[in-house]
Amino acid sequence: MLALLAGKDLGKIYESGLIFKKQSLLFRDISLEIEEGKTLGLMGPSGTGKTTLGLIMAGLERPTSGHVCHRGKDIEDLKGKELIAFRRQVQMVFQDPQGSLNPRKSIERSIHEVLNLLSIPRREWQERTKDALEKVGLSEELLCRYPGQISGGQCQRVALGRVLLLRPKVMILDEPTSALDISVQAQILNLLKDLQRDMGLGYLLISHQPEVIGFMAHEKMILKDGISYSK
Ligand SMILES: Nc1ncnc2c1ncn2[C@@H]1O[C@H](COP(=O)(O)OP(=O)(O)OP(=O)(O)O)[C@@H](O)[C@H]1O
Ligand SMILES: [Mg+2]
Repeated sequence: MLALLAGKDLGKIYESGLIFKKQSLLFRDISLEIEEGKTLGLMGPSGTGKTTLGLIMAGLERPTSGHVCHRGKDIEDLKGKELIAFRRQVQMVFQDPQGSLNPRKSIERSIHEVLNLLSIPRREWQERTKDALEKVGLSEELLCRYPGQISGGQCQRVALGRVLLLRPKVMILDEPTSALDISVQAQILNLLKDLQRDMGLGYLLISHQPEVIGFMAHEKMILKDGISYSK
């Protein structure tokens, strides 16, 4: 089966220093595949480049070597409709739920903003908003509140609801529950599993918690000392 998203021989080198340039190799020859309805768990010590690899897979950062392919096509070669499809279908979700929402915008405005971006006709906004909240298990009462007035777990649900409006196929989840209480973590992980089952989503799940990876992942990968191990 063709992977939704594949990284081939990815490498990343960072340059540091203003005058005396120093190059440091973060990782090299990393290959990975994200398949429909499956979760690839990515673990490894802090600073080994997990977030960087996630950003590269999402097309938000360039690899120094290697390629990322979306449905078999190198993302560097995508244009027009294919590029838009990639941008919508591959989404990244970050650790800090409060930080991913604008504190000065109500939840309703945050959601409407995405609908506007997608050029959804205004008459459909109410229905689409309701639908998005339902998918992530939130009530409409929350719409008039601001990110500071809802809990971290609710914030992460709103962030997921917004992303789902784009009808993604792949989600890169960078420590999506690390900022949350244990009980809330479990709820969000269960929600992610339900969404995966219902929508056939492929996940790249970055976590340093073996229990989280154990619960979610169909396959596991460890990034360490610049190379990857499968487990
Ligand atoms: N733009 C950049 N320029 C130079 N170095 C960078 C840049 N972005 C990240 N780094 C370095 O790359 C290394 C890996 O960072 P990254 O955030 O990908 O690690 P990580 O595995 O996600 O760590 P953690 O588990 O703590 O989240 C770090 O040492 C970081 O300082
Ligand atoms: Mg990280």
